[in-house]
Amino acid sequence: MCLYFLQNHLKLKNVCFISFTLTLIICCFMIIILRVNEGGGGQEARVFERLRLTVKYGINCTAIYEMEPVEVSKTLAIRKQKTYVGATDQTIVNATSDCDWFVVTQGYDGIQGTEFEREFPLAYSLVVHQDAALVERVQYAGISRLRADLNCLSDLLDSEVKWKYVINLCGQDFPLQTNAELVSDLKELKSRNMVESKWPGGKKWRWSVHHILKNNNSEYYDTPVSTSEEKSPPPHNIEMFVGSAYFTLSREFVDFVHWSFLARDFLAWSEDTYSPDEHFWVTLVRVPGVPGEVARSEPEISELICKTRLVKWSYLEEDLYPPCAGVHVRAVCIYGAAELRWLLNYGHWFANKVDPKVDPVLIECLEENLAEKHLNVQSKV
Ligand SMILES: *[C@@H]1O[C@H](CO)[C@@H](O)[C@H](O)[C@H]1NC(C)=O
Ligand SMILES: *[C@@H]1O[C@H](CO)[C@@H](O)[C@H](O)[C@H]1NC(C)=O
Ligand SMILES: *[C@@H]1O[C@H](CO)[C@@H](O)[C@H](O)[C@H]1NC(C)=O
Repeated sequence: MCLYFLQNHLKLKNVCFISFTLTLIICCFMIIILRVNEGGGGQEARVFERLRLTVKYGINCTAIYEMEPVEVSKTLAIRKQKTYVGATDQTIVNATSDCDWFVVTQGYDGIQGTEFEREFPLAYSLVVHQDAALVERVQYAGISRLRADLNCLSDLLDSEVKWKYVINLCGQDFPLQTNAELVSDLKELKSRNMVESKWPGGKKWRWSVHHILKNNNSEYYDTPVSTSEEKSPPPHNIEMFVGSAYFTLSREFVDFVHWSFLARDFLAWSEDTYSPDEHFWVTLVRVPGVPGEVARSEPEISELICKTRLVKWSYLEEDLYPPCAGVHVRAVCIYGAAELRWLLNYGHWFANKVDPKVDPVLIECLEENLAEKHLNVQSKV
Protein backbone atom coordinates (compact mmCIF):
# COMPACT_ATOMS: atom_id res chain seq x y z
CA MET A 1 0.00 0.00 0.00
CA CYS A 2 1.26 3.45 -0.70
CA LEU A 3 0.32 6.89 0.39
CA TYR A 4 2.02 9.62 -1.50
CA PHE A 5 1.75 13.31 -2.02
CA LEU A 6 2.10 15.48 -5.04
CA GLN A 7 3.74 18.82 -4.74
CA ASN A 8 1.13 21.48 -5.13
CA HIS A 9 3.03 24.30 -6.77
CA LEU A 10 1.91 26.84 -4.20
CA LYS A 11 -1.76 26.20 -4.71
CA LEU A 12 -4.13 23.77 -3.17
CA LYS A 13 -4.51 21.10 -5.71
CA ASN A 14 -7.47 18.88 -5.75
CA VAL A 15 -6.87 15.36 -6.77
CA CYS A 16 -9.89 13.33 -7.60
CA PHE A 17 -9.88 9.67 -8.13
CA ILE A 18 -12.33 6.92 -8.24
CA SER A 19 -11.42 3.67 -6.80
CA PHE A 20 -12.49 0.33 -5.55
CA THR A 21 -9.59 0.56 -3.22
CA LEU A 22 -8.69 2.03 0.07
CA THR A 23 -5.15 2.50 -0.98
CA LEU A 24 -4.67 6.14 -1.64
CA ILE A 25 -2.72 6.55 -4.77
CA ILE A 26 -2.45 10.07 -5.90
CA CYS A 27 -1.57 9.59 -9.45
CA CYS A 28 -3.16 11.49 -12.27
CA PHE A 29 -5.84 14.03 -11.68
CA MET A 30 -8.41 11.42 -12.18
CA ILE A 31 -7.57 7.82 -12.35
CA ILE A 32 -9.71 4.80 -12.12
CA ILE A 33 -8.19 1.97 -10.25
CA LEU A 34 -9.88 -1.36 -10.19
CA ARG A 35 -8.35 -2.92 -7.20
CA VAL A 36 -8.83 -3.74 -3.61
CA ASN A 37 -6.25 -3.72 -0.88
CA GLU A 38 -3.15 -5.53 -1.78
CA GLY A 39 -3.33 -9.01 -0.44
CA GLY A 40 0.01 -8.97 1.33
CA GLY A 41 1.21 -6.07 3.36
CA GLY A 42 4.65 -7.37 2.46
CA GLN A 43 4.03 -6.93 -1.23
CA GLU A 44 6.39 -4.11 -1.99
CA ALA A 45 5.70 -1.34 -4.41
CA ARG A 46 8.36 -1.41 -7.08
CA VAL A 47 8.84 2.27 -7.64
CA PHE A 48 9.08 3.20 -4.00
CA GLU A 49 10.56 0.06 -2.59
CA ARG A 50 11.72 0.08 1.00
CA LEU A 51 12.27 -2.54 3.64
CA ARG A 52 9.45 -2.79 6.11
CA LEU A 53 10.57 -1.73 9.58
CA THR A 54 8.44 -4.41 11.21
CA VAL A 55 10.49 -6.96 9.28
CA LYS A 56 13.83 -5.24 9.82
CA TYR A 57 13.33 -4.89 13.58
CA GLY A 58 11.14 -7.95 14.14
CA ILE A 59 8.16 -5.96 15.39
CA ASN A 60 4.95 -7.83 16.13
CA CYS A 61 1.90 -5.67 15.34
CA THR A 62 -0.43 -7.94 17.32
CA ALA A 63 1.70 -7.30 20.38
CA ILE A 64 1.49 -3.56 19.74
CA TYR A 65 -2.27 -3.90 19.48
CA GLU A 66 -2.13 -5.71 22.83
CA MET A 67 -0.11 -2.78 24.21
CA GLU A 68 2.78 -4.99 25.24
CA PRO A 69 5.35 -2.54 26.69
CA VAL A 70 8.44 -4.15 25.15
CA GLU A 71 6.96 -4.04 21.68
CA VAL A 72 5.67 -0.48 22.02
CA SER A 73 9.06 0.67 23.30
CA LYS A 74 10.71 -0.74 20.17
CA THR A 75 8.57 1.59 18.08
CA LEU A 76 9.56 4.54 20.27
CA ALA A 77 13.23 3.75 19.67
CA ILE A 78 12.65 3.70 15.91
CA ARG A 79 10.81 7.00 16.11
CA LYS A 80 13.77 8.58 17.90
CA GLN A 81 16.11 7.58 15.09
CA LYS A 82 14.08 9.67 12.65
CA THR A 83 15.50 7.76 9.73
CA TYR A 84 12.40 7.76 7.61
CA VAL A 85 12.98 9.26 4.19
CA GLY A 86 10.08 9.29 1.81
CA ALA A 87 10.26 9.50 -1.94
CA THR A 88 10.95 13.03 -3.10
CA ASP A 89 8.28 15.03 -4.87
CA GLN A 90 10.43 14.84 -7.99
CA THR A 91 10.53 11.05 -7.94
CA ILE A 92 6.79 10.84 -7.43
CA VAL A 93 5.98 13.32 -10.15
CA ASN A 94 8.28 11.40 -12.47
CA ALA A 95 6.86 8.01 -11.53
CA THR A 96 3.25 9.10 -11.92
CA SER A 97 3.66 11.16 -15.08
CA ASP A 98 2.40 8.13 -16.96
CA CYS A 99 -0.52 7.03 -14.83
CA ASP A 100 -1.30 3.78 -16.66
CA TRP A 101 2.31 2.74 -16.43
CA PHE A 102 2.40 3.57 -12.75
CA VAL A 103 -0.73 1.50 -12.04
CA VAL A 104 0.70 -1.50 -13.90
CA THR A 105 4.20 -1.35 -12.41
CA GLN A 106 2.79 -1.10 -8.90
CA GLY A 107 0.67 -4.16 -9.56
CA TYR A 108 -2.59 -2.30 -8.96
CA ASP A 109 -4.15 -3.39 -12.21
CA GLY A 110 -4.41 -7.07 -11.37
CA ILE A 111 -6.55 -6.78 -8.26
CA GLN A 112 -10.25 -7.40 -8.62
CA GLY A 113 -12.86 -6.54 -6.05
CA THR A 114 -15.67 -8.93 -5.24
CA GLU A 115 -19.02 -8.53 -7.00
CA PHE A 116 -20.33 -7.03 -3.74
CA GLU A 117 -17.68 -4.31 -4.01
CA ARG A 118 -17.83 -3.81 -7.76
CA GLU A 119 -21.53 -3.01 -7.74
CA PHE A 120 -20.87 -0.25 -5.21
CA PRO A 121 -18.05 1.96 -6.47
CA LEU A 122 -16.75 4.73 -4.27
CA ALA A 123 -15.17 8.01 -5.24
CA TYR A 124 -12.59 9.95 -3.29
CA SER A 125 -11.87 13.63 -3.34
CA LEU A 126 -8.48 14.46 -1.96
CA VAL A 127 -7.12 17.81 -1.05
CA VAL A 128 -3.39 17.62 -0.97
CA HIS A 129 -0.88 20.10 0.25
CA GLN A 130 2.64 19.00 0.68
CA ASP A 131 4.84 20.88 3.06
CA ALA A 132 4.01 23.13 5.94
CA ALA A 133 5.92 25.84 4.11
CA LEU A 134 3.52 25.54 1.21
CA VAL A 135 0.44 25.42 3.36
CA GLU A 136 1.46 28.72 4.87
CA ARG A 137 1.20 30.30 1.48
CA VAL A 138 -2.35 29.19 0.92
CA GLN A 139 -5.10 31.16 2.53
CA TYR A 140 -6.49 29.28 5.47
CA ALA A 141 -10.27 29.17 6.04
CA GLY A 142 -11.17 31.03 2.84
CA ILE A 143 -13.55 30.06 0.06
CA SER A 144 -10.82 28.59 -2.20
CA ARG A 145 -10.77 25.30 -0.35
CA LEU A 146 -14.53 24.90 -0.81
CA ARG A 147 -14.25 25.77 -4.50
CA ALA A 148 -11.58 23.11 -4.93
CA ASP A 149 -13.95 20.52 -3.45
CA LEU A 150 -16.79 21.67 -5.68
CA ASN A 151 -14.60 21.44 -8.78
CA CYS A 152 -13.48 18.00 -7.80
CA LEU A 153 -17.05 16.80 -7.24
CA SER A 154 -18.15 18.25 -10.52
CA ASP A 155 -15.39 16.29 -12.29
CA LEU A 156 -16.45 13.17 -10.43
CA LEU A 157 -20.06 13.55 -11.56
CA ASP A 158 -18.78 13.49 -15.14
CA SER A 159 -16.91 10.24 -14.63
CA GLU A 160 -18.12 7.16 -16.43
CA VAL A 161 -18.00 5.27 -13.14
CA LYS A 162 -21.35 5.63 -11.45
CA TRP A 163 -20.06 5.87 -7.92
CA LYS A 164 -22.52 5.67 -5.03
CA TYR A 165 -20.73 7.71 -2.39
CA VAL A 166 -17.87 10.17 -2.35
CA ILE A 167 -15.52 10.53 0.60
CA ASN A 168 -13.48 13.65 1.05
CA LEU A 169 -10.07 13.16 2.58
CA CYS A 170 -6.76 14.86 2.96
CA GLY A 171 -3.29 13.50 2.34
CA GLN A 172 -2.75 12.54 5.97
CA ASP A 173 -5.78 10.31 6.28
CA PHE A 174 -5.29 6.58 6.38
CA PRO A 175 -7.90 3.85 5.82
CA LEU A 176 -8.90 1.74 8.81
CA GLN A 177 -11.38 -0.48 6.99
CA THR A 178 -11.02 -2.61 3.90
CA ASN A 179 -12.97 -1.63 0.85
CA ALA A 180 -15.42 -4.48 1.47
CA GLU A 181 -16.05 -3.30 5.04
CA LEU A 182 -16.52 0.25 3.85
CA VAL A 183 -18.95 -0.83 1.15
CA SER A 184 -20.89 -2.82 3.70
CA ASP A 185 -21.15 0.15 6.11
CA LEU A 186 -22.11 2.53 3.31
CA LYS A 187 -24.82 0.21 2.00
CA GLU A 188 -26.32 0.28 5.47
CA LEU A 189 -26.56 4.06 5.33
CA LYS A 190 -29.17 3.65 2.58
CA SER A 191 -28.17 6.82 0.69
CA ARG A 192 -28.03 8.96 3.82
CA ASN A 193 -25.12 11.38 4.08
CA MET A 194 -22.54 11.04 6.84
CA VAL A 195 -21.06 14.32 8.04
CA GLU A 196 -20.40 15.79 11.41
CA SER A 197 -23.07 18.44 12.06
CA LYS A 198 -23.64 20.52 15.14
CA TRP A 199 -25.54 23.64 16.17
CA PRO A 200 -23.46 26.78 15.64
CA GLY A 201 -23.00 27.73 19.29
CA GLY A 202 -20.09 30.16 19.53
CA LYS A 203 -19.31 30.00 15.82
CA LYS A 204 -22.04 32.34 14.53
CA TRP A 205 -19.52 35.17 14.08
CA ARG A 206 -18.19 33.24 11.12
CA TRP A 207 -21.14 34.34 9.01
CA SER A 208 -22.85 37.15 10.94
CA VAL A 209 -20.35 39.70 9.62
CA HIS A 210 -18.70 40.32 6.28
CA HIS A 211 -15.15 38.98 5.99
CA ILE A 212 -12.51 40.28 3.65
CA LEU A 213 -10.02 38.03 1.95
CA LYS A 214 -7.53 40.56 0.56
CA ASN A 215 -5.95 43.77 1.73
CA ASN A 216 -6.22 46.87 -0.35
CA ASN A 217 -3.11 45.91 -2.30
CA SER A 218 -5.07 42.86 -3.51
CA GLU A 219 -2.85 40.60 -1.46
CA TYR A 220 -4.51 37.69 0.32
CA TYR A 221 -4.56 37.70 4.09
CA ASP A 222 -3.41 34.49 5.77
CA THR A 223 -6.97 33.99 6.87
CA PRO A 224 -10.22 35.95 6.22
CA VAL A 225 -10.49 39.11 8.31
CA SER A 226 -13.70 40.04 10.15
CA THR A 227 -15.23 43.46 9.58
CA SER A 228 -17.94 45.30 11.50
CA GLU A 229 -20.27 45.13 8.50
CA GLU A 230 -23.20 42.87 9.29
CA LYS A 231 -24.27 40.20 6.84
CA SER A 232 -27.82 39.37 5.88
CA PRO A 233 -29.09 36.00 7.08
CA PRO A 234 -28.58 33.04 4.75
CA PRO A 235 -30.88 32.78 1.71
CA HIS A 236 -33.98 30.53 1.50
CA ASN A 237 -34.37 30.50 5.29
CA ILE A 238 -31.46 28.09 5.55
CA GLU A 239 -30.74 27.10 9.12
CA MET A 240 -27.00 27.04 9.83
CA PHE A 241 -25.04 24.08 11.16
CA VAL A 242 -21.29 23.66 11.66
CA GLY A 243 -19.06 20.65 11.40
CA SER A 244 -16.27 19.26 9.35
CA ALA A 245 -15.13 19.93 5.81
CA TYR A 246 -14.58 16.19 5.49
CA PHE A 247 -17.65 14.33 4.35
CA THR A 248 -19.20 11.17 3.06
CA LEU A 249 -21.91 12.20 0.60
CA SER A 250 -24.27 10.23 -1.60
CA ARG A 251 -24.17 10.71 -5.33
CA GLU A 252 -27.77 11.99 -5.29
CA PHE A 253 -26.85 14.68 -2.78
CA VAL A 254 -23.80 15.80 -4.76
CA ASP A 255 -25.97 15.95 -7.85
CA PHE A 256 -28.45 18.09 -5.95
CA VAL A 257 -25.72 20.50 -4.82
CA HIS A 258 -24.45 20.71 -8.38
CA TRP A 259 -27.80 21.68 -9.91
CA SER A 260 -29.84 23.40 -7.22
CA PHE A 261 -30.43 27.16 -7.05
CA LEU A 262 -30.59 26.93 -3.30
CA ALA A 263 -27.04 25.53 -3.12
CA ARG A 264 -25.80 28.08 -5.65
CA ASP A 265 -27.30 30.99 -3.68
CA PHE A 266 -25.92 29.58 -0.45
CA LEU A 267 -22.45 29.32 -1.98
CA ALA A 268 -22.60 32.92 -3.16
CA TRP A 269 -23.74 34.02 0.29
CA SER A 270 -20.88 32.02 1.86
CA GLU A 271 -18.15 33.80 -0.14
CA ASP A 272 -17.38 36.31 2.60
CA THR A 273 -17.82 33.99 5.57
CA TYR A 274 -15.07 32.46 7.66
CA SER A 275 -14.19 28.85 6.81
CA PRO A 276 -17.23 28.20 4.59
CA ASP A 277 -16.12 24.61 3.99
CA GLU A 278 -16.95 23.90 7.64
CA HIS A 279 -20.58 24.95 7.28
CA PHE A 280 -21.45 24.55 3.59
CA TRP A 281 -21.95 20.78 3.35
CA VAL A 282 -23.09 20.36 6.90
CA THR A 283 -25.83 22.96 6.53
CA LEU A 284 -27.05 21.69 3.16
CA VAL A 285 -27.29 18.14 4.48
CA ARG A 286 -29.81 19.43 7.05
CA VAL A 287 -32.01 21.28 4.53
CA PRO A 288 -35.44 19.60 4.52
CA GLY A 289 -36.08 17.40 1.51
CA VAL A 290 -32.50 17.10 0.20
CA PRO A 291 -31.36 13.63 -0.90
CA GLY A 292 -29.86 11.76 2.05
CA GLU A 293 -31.14 14.44 4.45
CA VAL A 294 -30.22 14.49 8.11
CA ALA A 295 -33.35 16.05 9.65
CA ARG A 296 -32.85 19.32 11.54
CA SER A 297 -34.71 17.81 14.46
CA GLU A 298 -32.15 15.01 14.78
CA PRO A 299 -29.48 15.32 17.47
CA GLU A 300 -26.03 16.68 16.76
CA ILE A 301 -23.64 14.38 14.95
CA SER A 302 -20.30 14.65 16.72
CA GLU A 303 -16.99 13.62 15.23
CA LEU A 304 -17.03 10.41 17.20
CA ILE A 305 -20.49 9.50 15.88
CA CYS A 306 -19.62 10.48 12.32
CA LYS A 307 -17.62 7.53 11.05
CA THR A 308 -15.78 9.24 8.21
CA ARG A 309 -12.63 10.20 10.07
CA LEU A 310 -11.28 9.59 13.51
CA VAL A 311 -9.53 12.74 14.70
CA LYS A 312 -7.99 13.38 18.11
CA TRP A 313 -8.15 16.99 19.27
CA SER A 314 -5.76 18.00 22.03
CA TYR A 315 -8.48 19.81 24.01
CA LEU A 316 -10.69 16.69 24.19
CA GLU A 317 -7.91 14.33 25.23
CA GLU A 318 -8.35 12.69 28.65
CA ASP A 319 -11.98 13.75 28.41
CA LEU A 320 -13.19 11.76 25.39
CA TYR A 321 -10.11 9.69 24.66
CA PRO A 322 -6.62 8.86 25.91
CA PRO A 323 -3.83 11.37 25.24
CA CYS A 324 -2.09 11.48 21.87
CA ALA A 325 0.67 8.88 21.58
CA GLY A 326 2.30 10.74 18.70
CA VAL A 327 2.78 14.47 18.32
CA HIS A 328 0.39 17.41 17.95
CA VAL A 329 0.16 19.67 14.96
CA ARG A 330 -2.20 22.60 15.45
CA ALA A 331 -4.20 20.81 18.16
CA VAL A 332 -4.57 17.63 16.09
CA CYS A 333 -2.80 14.42 17.00
CA ILE A 334 -0.52 12.72 14.50
CA TYR A 335 -0.90 9.19 15.76
CA GLY A 336 1.73 6.96 17.30
CA ALA A 337 1.92 3.16 17.40
CA ALA A 338 0.50 3.02 20.92
CA GLU A 339 -2.78 4.28 19.40
CA LEU A 340 -3.22 1.23 17.18
CA ARG A 341 -5.87 -0.40 19.35
CA TRP A 342 -7.81 2.81 19.90
CA LEU A 343 -7.83 3.53 16.17
CA LEU A 344 -9.13 0.10 15.27
CA ASN A 345 -11.79 -0.16 17.93
CA TYR A 346 -14.13 2.67 17.00
CA GLY A 347 -15.25 1.33 13.63
CA HIS A 348 -14.27 4.56 11.89
CA TRP A 349 -13.33 4.49 8.23
CA PHE A 350 -10.25 6.71 8.19
CA ALA A 351 -7.69 7.91 10.70
CA ASN A 352 -6.54 11.51 10.69
CA LYS A 353 -3.60 12.14 10.92
CA VAL A 354 -0.82 9.71 10.21
CA ASP A 355 2.65 10.65 9.05
CA PRO A 356 5.50 8.21 8.37
CA LYS A 357 7.91 10.86 9.61
CA VAL A 358 6.21 10.75 13.01
CA ASP A 359 5.60 7.02 13.33
CA PRO A 360 6.37 4.76 10.39
CA VAL A 361 5.60 1.56 12.34
CA LEU A 362 2.00 2.58 13.03
CA ILE A 363 1.38 2.86 9.31
CA GLU A 364 2.90 -0.56 8.66
CA CYS A 365 0.73 -2.09 11.38
CA LEU A 366 -2.40 -0.45 9.96
CA GLU A 367 -1.48 -1.83 6.54
CA GLU A 368 -0.94 -5.25 8.01
CA ASN A 369 -4.32 -5.12 9.69
CA LEU A 370 -6.02 -4.25 6.41
CA ALA A 371 -4.19 -7.01 4.60
CA GLU A 372 -5.19 -9.57 7.24
CA LYS A 373 -8.85 -8.56 7.16
CA HIS A 374 -8.77 -8.73 3.40
CA LEU A 375 -7.28 -12.23 3.43
CA ASN A 376 -9.76 -13.44 6.04
CA VAL A 377 -12.63 -12.39 3.83
CA GLN A 378 -11.08 -14.09 0.82
CA SER A 379 -10.52 -17.34 2.67
CA LYS A 380 -14.21 -17.39 3.64
CA VAL A 381 -15.42 -16.93 0.06
C1 LIG B 1 2.82 -11.67 18.35
O1 LIG B 1 2.24 -11.27 19.56
C2 LIG B 1 1.09 -11.98 19.92
C3 LIG B 1 0.48 -11.31 21.15
O2 LIG B 1 1.43 -11.15 22.14
C4 LIG B 1 1.42 -13.44 20.11
O3 LIG B 1 0.27 -14.18 20.46
C5 LIG B 1 2.02 -13.99 18.82
O4 LIG B 1 2.43 -15.32 19.00
C6 LIG B 1 3.19 -13.14 18.38
N1 LIG B 1 3.59 -13.57 17.04
C7 LIG B 1 4.85 -13.85 16.75
C8 LIG B 1 5.13 -14.26 15.35
O5 LIG B 1 5.74 -13.77 17.59
C1 LIG C 1 12.22 9.26 -14.29
O1 LIG C 1 11.65 8.06 -14.77
C2 LIG C 1 12.36 7.41 -15.78
C3 LIG C 1 11.60 6.17 -16.18
O2 LIG C 1 10.29 6.46 -16.46
C4 LIG C 1 13.76 7.06 -15.30
O3 LIG C 1 14.51 6.49 -16.35
C5 LIG C 1 14.44 8.32 -14.79
O4 LIG C 1 15.69 7.98 -14.23
C6 LIG C 1 13.58 9.01 -13.75
N1 LIG C 1 14.23 10.25 -13.33
C7 LIG C 1 14.31 10.60 -12.04
C8 LIG C 1 14.95 11.92 -11.78
O5 LIG C 1 13.87 9.92 -11.15
C1 LIG D 1 -5.98 50.70 2.76
O1 LIG D 1 -6.37 50.30 4.04
C2 LIG D 1 -6.01 51.20 5.08
C3 LIG D 1 -6.43 50.60 6.39
O2 LIG D 1 -6.48 49.22 6.35
C4 LIG D 1 -6.67 52.55 4.86
O3 LIG D 1 -6.24 53.44 5.87
C5 LIG D 1 -6.31 53.06 3.51
O4 LIG D 1 -7.02 54.24 3.25
C6 LIG D 1 -6.63 52.04 2.44
N1 LIG D 1 -6.16 52.51 1.15
C7 LIG D 1 -6.93 52.51 0.08
C8 LIG D 1 -6.27 53.01 -1.18
O5 LIG D 1 -8.08 52.13 0.09
